[in-house]
Amino acid sequence: MKKEVEYKGLKFEPYITQEQINARVQELAAQISKDCDGKEPLFLCVLTGAFPFASDLFRAVDIDAEISFIRLQSYQGMSTTGVVKQVMGLGEEIKGRNVVIVEDIIDTGHTMHNLIATVKEKGAADIKIATLLFKPSALCRPVKPDYVGFEIPTKFIIGYGLDIDGKARNLQDIYVLKDDK
Ligand code: IMP
Ligand code: MG
Repeated sequence: MKKEVEYKGLKFEPYITQEQINARVQELAAQISKDCDGKEPLFLCVLTGAFPFASDLFRAVDIDAEISFIRLQSYQGMSTTGVVKQVMGLGEEIKGRNVVIVEDIIDTGHTMHNLIATVKEKGAADIKIATLLFKPSALCRPVKPDYVGFEIPTKFIIGYGLDIDGKARNLQDIYVLKDDK
């Protein structure tokens, strides 16, 4: 882990280590495996940010499960635009399925609120939400995640899929913007 990383002239410091992430992912996977046993859940990975989390979580569940992907975009730079664009949509695979939506982070909740409506519309039998990170105090939509890796304050973070204008997704640990109080 690096003591400090810099992107776009901004300095970030370590926040959640790879080891902490791994341990928490195993716990979430065990819980999901228990809750969804016999239901053959369809994991729905929200691209781009959730791909490392979805990859680790999906491989850690030990029940029959499938995975699919949806691509959404709502962020520009460091603030949400509120407008959620569906860049790569869903097919018929959702119908009648127990869907586990896998997100990197729930911030204002706009993205998730919108996505739940879409997944319902496509005829999912049940919807569960797994998010690695959750900023409860930033929430402005009635969204209740079922599986939360870490609840964090309203800070800007990067790494393990989370980006700043497309960069920093490949950091193995999660870093937080310095002096961001
Ligand atoms: P929401 O619609 O405001 O809940 O935003 C959700 C999306 O914003 C996430 O899927 C992320 O892509 C992005 N996002 C929210 N907070 C952060 C952050 O701290 N760092 C990087 N991306 C973030
Ligand atoms: Mg995202």
